[in-house]
Amino acid sequence: MSTLIISMDVFDAIRTRRSIREYKPDEINKEDLEKILEAGRWAPSAENNQPWNFVVVTDDATIAHVIDSIPWGKFMRNAPLIIAIVTDPEVETHIIDGALVTQNMALEAWDLNIGTCWVYEMDRDKIKKILGIPKEKHVLTVLGFGYISKVDDSHACRKELEEITHYGKW
Ligand SMILES: Cc1cc2nc3c(=O)[nH]c(=O)nc-3n(C[C@H](O)[C@H](O)[C@H](O)COP(=O)(O)O)c2cc1C
Repeated sequence: MSTLIISMDVFDAIRTRRSIREYKPDEINKEDLEKILEAGRWAPSAENNQPWNFVVVTDDATIAHVIDSIPWGKFMRNAPLIIAIVTDPEVETHIIDGALVTQNMALEAWDLNIGTCWVYEMDRDKIKKILGIPKEKHVLTVLGFGYISKVDDSHACRKELEEITHYGKW
């Protein structure tokens, strides 16, 4: 495969990915789950610190319990799988590193016809208790995953490049 084709695939995934909030109930197959986790594991991080852990949950009752702690995350009720991305605040760049994990997972999922969506606001202490996450860690986000039922294109727009790009000088 030529380099050109590889870069076009990456660009296509980046360009077409959407946040998905409606999922089919089918469970995520093991190979797909492993690819999503691997995509997260291979994210870059400052000094290759890899200040992250992933908590994978497929139990419906636990998923429901976690979602109760996420005010804008009710859409995840349909998701057969959630993954908590947990970072280590002792590492200065943990939020940035964890965000890269999240985007890697989202893009790999998209390629597998699996949707997901960031959520930010949540009761992190409650989620730590439910999932047994050590107190000193940070729950960056909880991602719901499911085979895509509906694509919402309402935010498939971005600021124009001319508006945000400055060549040579601002
Ligand atoms: C840090 C962050 C937090 C977000 N929080 C939420 C959220 O709480 N609920 C939600 O439905 N979407 C959330 N989103 C998804 C954004 O609304 C979405 O990415 C944006 O509108 C662009 O749409 P697109 O991802 O479909 O291109 C969040 C995205 C990011 C990056």
